[in-house]
Amino acid sequence: MTQEVKRLRSVVTGVGSALPRRCVTNRELEGQVDTSDEWIVQRTGITQRYIAGEGETTSSLGAAAARAAMAKAGCAPEDIDLIICATSTPDLTFPSVATMIQAELGVLGGVAFDVQAVCAGFVFAVATADKFLTSGSHKRALIIGAETFSRIMDWQDRTTCVLFGDGAGALVLEAREGEGTNADRGVLSSKLRSDGRYKSKLYVDGGPSTTQTAGHLRMEGKEVFRFAVGHVTDVMTDAFSEAGLTVEDLDWFVPHQANQRIIDASAQKLGIAPAKVVKTVQWHGNTSAASIPLALSVACEDGRIKPGDLVMIEAIGGGFAWGAALIRW
Ligand code: ACO
Repeated sequence: MTQEVKRLRSVVTGVGSALPRRCVTNRELEGQVDTSDEWIVQRTGITQRYIAGEGETTSSLGAAAARAAMAKAGCAPEDIDLIICATSTPDLTFPSVATMIQAELGVLGGVAFDVQAVCAGFVFAVATADKFLTSGSHKRALIIGAETFSRIMDWQDRTTCVLFGDGAGALVLEAREGEGTNADRGVLSSKLRSDGRYKSKLYVDGGPSTTQTAGHLRMEGKEVFRFAVGHVTDVMTDAFSEAGLTVEDLDWFVPHQANQRIIDASAQKLGIAPAKVVKTVQWHGNTSAASIPLALSVACEDGRIKPGDLVMIEAIGGGFAWGAALIRW
């Protein structure tokens, strides 16, 4: 008699997103810094981004995205026992954005905390939640990526300010029993990496313990580009291998939306067909930890990602920190 090995899986039951009211086109930026729509489109693929206005914060955008995801999942505040928010642009140094969202949503039980892995934050948050849910300690999690990078931009620096935008996205992940095979719905594998030697390539030049200010983003764009394309495929290959799947099995590749050229080069390196790549960088710019859940939300809303599809999420950001997760939707 063969023994059945059931195991808990973290299954996606809802996706939601939120954007600031104000959309800023490349043309509008031409009036603020020495740049052009042509340069931005050719180098990055970005045509517009959303910028938070008065009253719009990381927690308000995150709460709106979380509400939308909970509505899709059909769950109430009392059903949530874990909230993880990935962000590098918190409303305040503390408390965490996750606890602010917890209060805003009226979630009274469970635990809420932030993870900070810059643009890779959402992948880190999904991997972390998966450990909680598959251990059996928690039942239903809200995973949020929310950012207001416009507030740490040096708006005089044309090499960075044209690249970023604000927004938020969220998933509801629920612990469900699976069969223990890679046909199960849920997170099938995740791989995270970091290497702190690269701090100077992408960082913020301020913080409570040094300047007592929030600081501004500084980046050596070419170095980041080189590292991203060079290293990020490693975690994806490892995630496929752990799940016993290959790139041939993939339905959708949903990478961090930093730059169209990084996305295209990474997909090409792995042999992923362009038609399987979800791209939203043209509409949102780089929204750091929010970019993947925003892209997931778009591709679920327009009917591309369906239950049962195999989805790879992947990101690299400051640290450097990078990771990938393979999810059966
Ligand atoms: N408008 C017009 N010209 C500009 C702008 C601008 N906004 N920014 C830079 N330039 C100029 C430069 O000054 C330079 O001029 P020069 O030749 O007279 O000196 C010229 O354009 C070329 O600049 P490069 O930096 O060499 O341009 P490059 O082709 O490398 O593109 C870019 C820059 C888009 C930042 C690219 O390096 C890149 O995509 N890097 C990846 C960085 C990234 O996406 N980071 C996101 C955060 S990390 C993450 O999410 C993974």
